[in-house]
Amino acid sequence: MCGIVGYVGQRSALDVVMGGLRRLEYRGYDSGGVALVGDGTIFSAKKAGKLLNLDAELAARPLPVTHTGIGHTRWATHGAPNDVNAHPHLDETRRVAVVHNGIIENFAVLRAELEAAGHELVSETDTEVVAHLLHDVLAGTPDLSDAVRAVCQRLEGAFTLVICDADQPDVVVGARRNSPLVVGRGDGENFLGSDVAAFIEYTRDAVELGQDQVVTITPDEIVVTDFFGAPAETKEYHVDWDVSAAEKGGYEWFMLKEMDEQPQAVADTLLGRHSQTGQLQLDEMRLSDDELREVDRIVIIACGTASYAGLVAKYAIEHWTRIPCEVELASEFRYRDPILDKSTLVVAISQSGETMDTLMAIRYARQQKARVLSICNTNGSTIPRESDAVIYTHAGPEVAVASTKGFLSQVVACYLLALYLAQVKGTKYGDEIASILAEIDRVPAGIQRLLDEGDQVRKLAADLSGSRSILFLGRHVGYPVALEGALKLKELAYIHAEGFAAGELKHGPIALVEDGLPVFVVVPPKGRDQLQEKTISSIQEIRARGARTIVLAEDGDDDVVPYADHLIRLPKVPTLLQPLVATVPLQIFATEFADQLGHDVDQPRNLAKSVTVE
Ligand code: F6R
Repeated sequence: MCGIVGYVGQRSALDVVMGGLRRLEYRGYDSGGVALVGDGTIFSAKKAGKLLNLDAELAARPLPVTHTGIGHTRWATHGAPNDVNAHPHLDETRRVAVVHNGIIENFAVLRAELEAAGHELVSETDTEVVAHLLHDVLAGTPDLSDAVRAVCQRLEGAFTLVICDADQPDVVVGARRNSPLVVGRGDGENFLGSDVAAFIEYTRDAVELGQDQVVTITPDEIVVTDFFGAPAETKEYHVDWDVSAAEKGGYEWFMLKEMDEQPQAVADTLLGRHSQTGQLQLDEMRLSDDELREVDRIVIIACGTASYAGLVAKYAIEHWTRIPCEVELASEFRYRDPILDKSTLVVAISQSGETMDTLMAIRYARQQKARVLSICNTNGSTIPRESDAVIYTHAGPEVAVASTKGFLSQVVACYLLALYLAQVKGTKYGDEIASILAEIDRVPAGIQRLLDEGDQVRKLAADLSGSRSILFLGRHVGYPVALEGALKLKELAYIHAEGFAAGELKHGPIALVEDGLPVFVVVPPKGRDQLQEKTISSIQEIRARGARTIVLAEDGDDDVVPYADHLIRLPKVPTLLQPLVATVPLQIFATEFADQLGHDVDQPRNLAKSVTVE
């Protein structure tokens, strides 16, 4: 996730680009930068931190007024969020400037090749290779669009690129593979943007690009081709959102947008981490395989929703690696004198990377000589900086206070860690790992289906919005899903909601069940372990006491039908992966429930996105 803008026309390019970046800043705020073309020169400025820092830089060192420009607001992936790694990136002759969103998976190979040929790369980013590759291609192919097409053919991964060339003053070229880019059609001016928010102030006429397409904009023309130069078909559309809605991509709430981004977030967490043969590469793993082989115990520490991702991880880690694993609330961890040593791997899970309870817990763990690996969504934040290793989730910025795509991507990163440990420890082999990864690869399509079928859940939320108490039950990995469903509802709807392990019901909580009480039950897939049958027994127990049962069960599970007052179907996935799909209807339910009550879904009362106090 990054925000990208490009402009050619008659206005001040800097004004247009900075205005666009301000509206895209929600996509990332690790750094900002612009490049302008005029008088055969590229003028650029970039600064780490929010756009305010770039504003100050531009005030201190103004750039000339030109009519062609590009800009970027960064959500860091490769390289720390500092001035050098900020975009745009230029080649050594300052002929081209490049901004990029995505991950160029083969950048290490390309970088080595460029360095061997004498190029000096100054940043740690994957993006900079594109500027240097373009420099070389432009020596023999003077047309920027041709050069971009040639370079795109060499890139692997997901990318949106927007590029300008000092020698071609009225041209901006964009390219797209698996990352967003839209074109704004103006009158005597044209625009590029990560989304329409970038240019909605100037035009509402947009052109949608397909995958693997290159677009060339001049003030009067928009030309779209594939990566080989063949003309491509495009779709024109008119945007009727207002400026503030555009930042949310037309959604009423960021949370709805972030829920819809979950198939992509899960895919992005997986991107580039494994080969077809199941060989895993965790690119931010700074612990050696020998160090990991020494690990004889894992302690996961996290807060709230992230701790539920940790509970899911416990099942996967113990099952796949046979390493004992415990999950601790970060706020409790260091106060109970935990037993730690250098063969303990502490895994800290945090979307923001700034949660104080988690930060204090990892500091304590390191003092006790444990090794700390963090799973985090925010590049360069404090928790990963203070860890021995980090796996970034690459889910893109999460703006809504209640975590959605953050949670699913944490669960995926935990699976990747568990499988990596299994690979290193030799408890799982290539083909077994490959087949689990193939199942995870299919999950985004399942999540998409649940999002598409959301109306059924929204109707249920509207029907139940008068309820003052709702329970959630689950077994095995369905238990953390129940906890997460209850937390989402508590924090958004401000009603009593509680999650229980279904088997625990008879040890006390069943006393809460009374006539008409809504109870969600996550039913595990049918298997050898009797989990499904035992969960159905729990449903019978509560139904017999008057509960209104809302049953989440996989496609084809007809055993549950007689006991379900409402049935929500889940795509078939292996038991351990079920949280990735079962959580989605519960998110939709909580969001709609809160919306029905007129609550602020993005900023629930009393809460903050990043809890930087203990
Ligand atoms: C709930 C939620 C919180 C966070 C928790 C940890 O929807 O978002 O429970 O999960 O505050 O935050 P991070 O992951 O940033 O450490």
